[in-house]
Amino acid sequence: MTQMHIGVPREVVPGETRVALTPNEVRSLTAEGHQIVVEHGAGDRAGHPDNEYLDAGALSGDRANAFNADIVLQVHLAGAGNRAFDSDFDFDQDLKRTRRSAVLVGLANPLSHPEPVRRLAEHGVTTFSLDLLPRITRAQAMDVLSSQSSIAGYRAALIAAERVDKLLPMMTTAAGSIAPARVLVLGAGVAGLQSIATARRLGAVVHAYDIRAAAREQVESVGGIFVDLPLDTSTAEGSGGYAQAQQEEFYARQREVLGNEVAAADVVIATAQVPGRPAPVLITEDMVRAMRPGSVLVDAAAAQGGNCALSVADETIERFGVSIIAPTNLPAGAAAHASRLYARNIANFTRHLLGDDGPRLTVDDPIIRDTLLTRDGQVVHAGLRTLLGVDVPDAPATGALHTVTAERN
Ligand code: NAI
Repeated sequence: MTQMHIGVPREVVPGETRVALTPNEVRSLTAEGHQIVVEHGAGDRAGHPDNEYLDAGALSGDRANAFNADIVLQVHLAGAGNRAFDSDFDFDQDLKRTRRSAVLVGLANPLSHPEPVRRLAEHGVTTFSLDLLPRITRAQAMDVLSSQSSIAGYRAALIAAERVDKLLPMMTTAAGSIAPARVLVLGAGVAGLQSIATARRLGAVVHAYDIRAAAREQVESVGGIFVDLPLDTSTAEGSGGYAQAQQEEFYARQREVLGNEVAAADVVIATAQVPGRPAPVLITEDMVRAMRPGSVLVDAAAAQGGNCALSVADETIERFGVSIIAPTNLPAGAAAHASRLYARNIANFTRHLLGDDGPRLTVDDPIIRDTLLTRDGQVVHAGLRTLLGVDVPDAPATGALHTVTAERN
């Protein structure tokens, strides 16, 4: 295998606690011959001080050293695609530190924030965004969306359980019996299923809804009760197993028929998302007004605008006695485990990318094709070129907006 110089900068996005590589993964990659430079303090908030990285075989350096590498591994790709990108973060400084020949790997959230990708392209670097990884069996070991969404779903349930004015489990005491709390989970993808499983483990009765028909079986397999709504969902599932955006009339009807379910819940956990689009608004102010005072709504889709019309990103507000909590980075609240899983995913992706002879930019491989954003000074991802209005007929076409692949399981 080609040996590479790998850099791991400290994450600078406000509220971020994760680190892209943990000492365990550093140990494996250095054993494979790579040289790794970790920026001072990069792992502090994830429970890994510099000395652990040194013991694992890394070098410790300043930010310039971490960016002066063949491959730079990050959680937030050069800060790109982040809400704080324009205000608190000096993206240009990091770009100046990056070699034009470098490969950057991380999360860029490019479908929602395509503009920074153009600047990465102009700098000449090759970039891969792991949030575009296809959901195929071969890519599962690299699937950061799944590993981080699982943590998000788990934490959303715990946050709700902590805040609601009821106990989640049934309890029989000398003073009488308490019925279990009722939880409603909207969106039963990776995060939603983990919320259902966690709330069930805490003893709640959990109802759940997703517009994809396939979700029913998954909801039931983790102990949830699937909510039947009188909606035509025949066009709900798009390519790659993701939900497809619906017309506004559909969402209006969905809100109408969801009203009673929301009002009956002590806890609502909302995780519904459509890739590359703002999250659908499923809960209006009137629906919150109809909820019981003391109940809780955790809007786990807040980073994409939120499923509740009242959500304020990264704040907890109270309306009509209902707490509305809208965290935008739930995995950061479990930095050690979130980093451990992220690091394993990104190390596996790095190995896949390098193969035996150095970075493989072959577009025949869906894992490479779908995640490759920029190379040779151009945005090469087909879906992003469309979003950016970049007309480059000769550029090598790469990924579509959503992955369609025969390999999907
Ligand atoms: P996501 O984070 O994009 O969306 C969350 C959920 O919201 C989805 O289940 C979606 O159907 C749902 N949703 C969207 N609009 C909604 C609405 N109006 N009302 C109710 N629910 C709504 O999804 P995630 O978690 O990334 O999963 C996407 C797909 O990928 C799923 O089909 C999942 O099973 C699949 N997957 C496949 C893996 C594999 O390796 N084969 C690994 C992980 C996920």
